[in-house]
Amino acid sequence: MRYHRSRGWEIPASETTPESIFLNRRAFFVGAGAALTVAGLLRRAHADDADPTTGLYPAKRNPAYTLDRDVTPEKVNLHYNNFYEFTTSKRVDADALKTRPWTVTIDGLVEKKETIDVDDLVKAIGLEERLYRHRCVEAWSMAIPWTGFPLKALVDRAKPLSAAKYVRFETFLDDSIAPGQRQFMPWPYIEGLTMAEATNDLAFIVTGAYGKPVAKVQGAPIRLATPWKYGFKSAKSIVKISFVADRPQTFWQQLGPDEYGFWANVNPDVPHPRWSQARETFLTTGEQRPTLLYNGYGEQVAALYKGLEKEPLYM
Ligand code: MTE
Repeated sequence: MRYHRSRGWEIPASETTPESIFLNRRAFFVGAGAALTVAGLLRRAHADDADPTTGLYPAKRNPAYTLDRDVTPEKVNLHYNNFYEFTTSKRVDADALKTRPWTVTIDGLVEKKETIDVDDLVKAIGLEERLYRHRCVEAWSMAIPWTGFPLKALVDRAKPLSAAKYVRFETFLDDSIAPGQRQFMPWPYIEGLTMAEATNDLAFIVTGAYGKPVAKVQGAPIRLATPWKYGFKSAKSIVKISFVADRPQTFWQQLGPDEYGFWANVNPDVPHPRWSQARETFLTTGEQRPTLLYNGYGEQVAALYKGLEKEPLYM
C-alpha cells in the first residue's frame, strides 16, 4: 500500500511548535479527538479501570539512565501524542479504551506460551523508573520518566527457542472504541525488534509514566520504549508479543514502504525522504538541538548493528 501525505505527525522540523503555541492550536486534522481542556484531560487520563498495581508507583528510579535536558512536563506529554487508533490529531482522546482487565498473550517460538493478566506480569517482574529521551521521526522530542521493566525480563520468562529471531508486538484491535481502526489502514498496529535488540538493556516495557500507571493516550496499560529508535517503533496498548522466525511487516512499513522501514534507528545524517533529521525540537521549550546518532544511546546499542551495514538501518 502506498502512503500519501496526510498524517498529523509528518510535519517538517520547522513546523513543530513550542508548548505555548501547540497547547493553543487546533488539531491539524478533524479526527475523532476533539480539543480537550488541560484539567479535563489530566482528570480523565487515569480515571477508570481500577488498577491493582497503583500502589507500586512511584517505583525506584534506576540511576543509570540520566538526561541531558529537563523532563517534559506531564501535561505537555498528555497533549501531544500519536495514537492513530483514535485520531490522526495530536490531541488524542483515548477514554473509550478499557484497560482493565487486560491480558497479554506471549506466543510463537517459546517454551512458555501464556496469556497473562498485565497486573500479574507487573507483580511477577517488578518495576523501576527510567528517564528516557523520546524522539519522533517527525523531528520533535520529549524526555519522559517511564516506569516498567526491561523487555529482556519478559523474554527470559518466555524462554525463546533458538529458531526465534524477532519479537513482534501487536496492539489491540477493536474498531467499536477506536475510530481510527475504521479507516483504511493496515490494523492492528504491528512493530518488531530483533532478538538482540529486544534483549538489549535499553529496550523497556512501559506500564507507568510520571510516577503512576501510564495514561491511556500514552499507550496504557502496556507499551514499548526503544529510545534509540524513532518513536513509531514503540507500540502502544500491546495485547500480543510473539517470538517469530521471520521479520515482521510493521504497520508503517505497510503504509509507507518508501519512507518507513524495520530498523528506524535515529541518525541525524539520514534525512526522511521529505525532511531533515539533523535537528530536533524539544517540545517543552521549542528549543532546537542537533539530533544525536542513536538518539545519544550509541554506547549501549551501536554494537547491535555491526555487520548489518547493508541494511537500511536509519529508516
Ligand atoms: N502505537 C500505536 N498502537 N499506535 C500509534 O499510532 N504511534 C507511534 C508510537 N506507537 C502509535 C504507536 C508514534 S508515531 C510515536 S511517535 C509514539 O507512539 C508516540 O508516543 P507518545 O504519544 O507517548 O509520545
